[in-house]
Amino acid sequence: MGELDILFTCAGAGSKSAGCALQKDFFSLNLFSPLTLGRLELPNRLVMAPLTRTRSGRRGVPTELMAEHYAQRASMGLIISEGIYTSLEGQGFTWQPGLTTDEQIAGWKNVTDAVHAAGGRIVAQVMNAGRVTSPGTNGGRRVVAPSAIAVDGLTHTYEGKQPYPVPHALTTAEIPAITAEFVAASRAAMEAGFDGVELHSANGYLLHEFLSPDSNLRTDMYGGSPENRARFVIEVYRAVADAIGADRTGLRISPENNIQGVLETNPADVLATYTALVAGIAPLKPAFLSILHRDPSDILVQELRKSFGGPVLLNSGFGILTTREEALRFMDQDLGDGVVVGRPVIANPDLVRRWQEDLPLNIPDPSTFYSHGPAGYTDYPAYAEAS
Ligand SMILES: Cc1cc2nc3c(=O)[nH]c(=O)nc-3n(C[C@H](O)[C@H](O)[C@H](O)COP(=O)(O)O)c2cc1C
Repeated sequence: MGELDILFTCAGAGSKSAGCALQKDFFSLNLFSPLTLGRLELPNRLVMAPLTRTRSGRRGVPTELMAEHYAQRASMGLIISEGIYTSLEGQGFTWQPGLTTDEQIAGWKNVTDAVHAAGGRIVAQVMNAGRVTSPGTNGGRRVVAPSAIAVDGLTHTYEGKQPYPVPHALTTAEIPAITAEFVAASRAAMEAGFDGVELHSANGYLLHEFLSPDSNLRTDMYGGSPENRARFVIEVYRAVADAIGADRTGLRISPENNIQGVLETNPADVLATYTALVAGIAPLKPAFLSILHRDPSDILVQELRKSFGGPVLLNSGFGILTTREEALRFMDQDLGDGVVVGRPVIANPDLVRRWQEDLPLNIPDPSTFYSHGPAGYTDYPAYAEAS
């Protein structure tokens, strides 16, 4: 009996038939089956989400504690690191790590060595925060964006809460230098022993700011039409892929997430912009496309998956915590190739085992998400210790 016969037998025979049980297992087990992402071979399809945890020192150097934290989570099919700044100007958070100095590279080498020694794989998420920062965080440097429009509200800085400043609109001539920073940080990630790089083009930071007509009012070749707004992200992707290989370069996007002032409310424009973006990178055969969208079964996500043609990782965003049931459903319904999981991995270093065996879970404590030190970071117990 082939895979299709099993499906038809199940559809026609009711849920208690042997064929139907086999079908259910076949797909559910998929979450725990291997996945190839370009040059990366994953033992399962559960991917640790990029999670900013503000545990680096003020010099942006990864610590021994961070090595321990990431190594504890090495059974995940893949770990994506927290967002790492590509330049001091683009630093978005206090206590955020960077990939701009020898000291930072050495700190990350310690992290990647620990993850590899524990049997895991780790990709660096590289980012420029764009206008979502302030001089109080980025060392008094200018704050840059596609257009001179400030984010509403206050940001946490080393000097307390400050309003987001009106950013400097990058000139056309200044853009290649920002691209070069992404390339340099990606090369530094390779030097630091990462297995690949994910470009952060989601959640309202610099790359995303170029995509949205709300935050990008440019009149040069990087603004206006959907193709023009997608141009910068495509250029950065291509430059990084040229430097380290597309087969170890992924991209994260969050169409329609409407976060941090980056609004995408016109469905036709969103589809056109992200289709242009995907068309610009798909021929290079990227390692993966990671899509954050509240409903991965939405036609937008599935259209993008089809035009991308390569492996797609899914995450339904901040609304509710990703659950085991949701992850299994994404696989059962063949909505993507892997599932990105955030907060449940913060609290459960052994999440793969717990979900595979349907064991009880630790509950994440949001009050320690952005604190410093081991509490809520390296002290969540694995199941055996908890029982
Ligand atoms: C504490 C925290 C930090 C985060 N940091 C990042 C980040 O650095 N980069 C990023 O792309 N997303 C970041 N996110 C979003 C997560 O990657 C993920 O999309 C979100 O937590 C929803 O998934 P979940 O329900 O599985 O937690 C962060 C989320 C949280 C809760």
